[in-house]
Amino acid sequence: MVNTTLELSRRRFLSSSATTSLLAVASLSYPIDPILAKTIKGIQFGAAARASLIVSDPQYRDALLGYCSRLTPEIEFKWDRIEQEQGQFMFGEADQLANFARDHGIEIYGHTLLWHRSLPPWAYENLKVEREWSIVDRYIRQMVGRYDGIRYWDVVNEPIETGYRTDGLRPSIFLDVFGDEYVASALQAARSVSSSAKLLINEYGLEYDLAVEHDRRYHFLKLLERLKHSGVPLDGVGLQAHLDLRKGTVSPASIGSFLKEIANFGLFIFVTELDVTEASYFQTVDERDEQVAAEVSRYLDVVCDFPDIRGVTTWGLTDRYSWLGLSPEEVEAYIRLGYWRDGSSPGLNRGLPLDTDMRPKQFLRSLTSHGIGEKQ
Ligand code: G3I
Repeated sequence: MVNTTLELSRRRFLSSSATTSLLAVASLSYPIDPILAKTIKGIQFGAAARASLIVSDPQYRDALLGYCSRLTPEIEFKWDRIEQEQGQFMFGEADQLANFARDHGIEIYGHTLLWHRSLPPWAYENLKVEREWSIVDRYIRQMVGRYDGIRYWDVVNEPIETGYRTDGLRPSIFLDVFGDEYVASALQAARSVSSSAKLLINEYGLEYDLAVEHDRRYHFLKLLERLKHSGVPLDGVGLQAHLDLRKGTVSPASIGSFLKEIANFGLFIFVTELDVTEASYFQTVDERDEQVAAEVSRYLDVVCDFPDIRGVTTWGLTDRYSWLGLSPEEVEAYIRLGYWRDGSSPGLNRGLPLDTDMRPKQFLRSLTSHGIGEKQ
């Protein structure tokens, strides 16, 4: 399973990379770590990003430019943002992000065409009544056609949910109306517009030795098997990798055998949404960062051995803007209880590579020590 040549060359390069700091940092408004930033040849690194923050926060913008060679629109490409009202396409923020990326030689990762949580309410109602595939088809064609340089698309996002059906498919309006064929139809629609884009299914909850995650892996593999056997245009698998220390630590053995099956289908992998939810906020910042970084390393030790890994993307770059943050109510409760007297970050999950001041954390070193982070 391991591509030894690739792995050896990656490791060899890593061992010499500390002396090859290439980034000019003088003009930036905060100190990008010159060794960590874009200096290591290996797996392409990206982060989920938001167009509005690029405009409003120059430090955020500089950090994206300093570290990322690929960006995933965190919300801008989703159907409910693009077509809030039927037929009224609002490409403003999506174009903004795509143009920003293009102007800086950064690649955009297409996220996501079909997701039950990003369906505009009008589309839900129409699908229920009209039951027409053309409603979905039109949106997929629009997006893949408009952003035709995009190399990777999450075509279907999160199709698996355990506990409902024997095939493990998530109950959704798509499944209700079109049956289990909807996954194949979405992939075919994307392929009909682009013969070259790589098409993926993106899924979460696949890393731990929990019964529910075991089931998710099983059903996901079965879905991939059915799609590959019926010749559907599926090229790769997106592994969201929202790691979660509350679940324990990732299971290298389970992930390893799961990935082996994926390799047998001839699919590549892409780590699409890496981050870490912490189990406890009540330790020192250093201890917390160490635990997060160790979990990232445990995970990357396995996935970076996969023969065809196309990229690693974190779900956000900095704790300053993270979907992992606690709610204001939780923050208030913790402060009332007297925590964080040591000046650490109240209420902020430290589950991303940079802290709230854009300083690199040990998380980033876990990435670079696995060969992740060079512009390609
Ligand atoms: O921009 C509006 C703002 O104007 C408004 O005041 C505010 C009030 O609620 O909402 C803001 O939009 C929110 C947006 O995030 C930006 O913060 C949306 O309501 C909220 O639904 C949206 O959540 C995003 C979610 O996907 C749904 O699209 C999260 O940021 C984003 O991190 C999350 O990403 C998903 C991946 O796509 C799939 N995998 C899981 C991952 C995390 O849930």
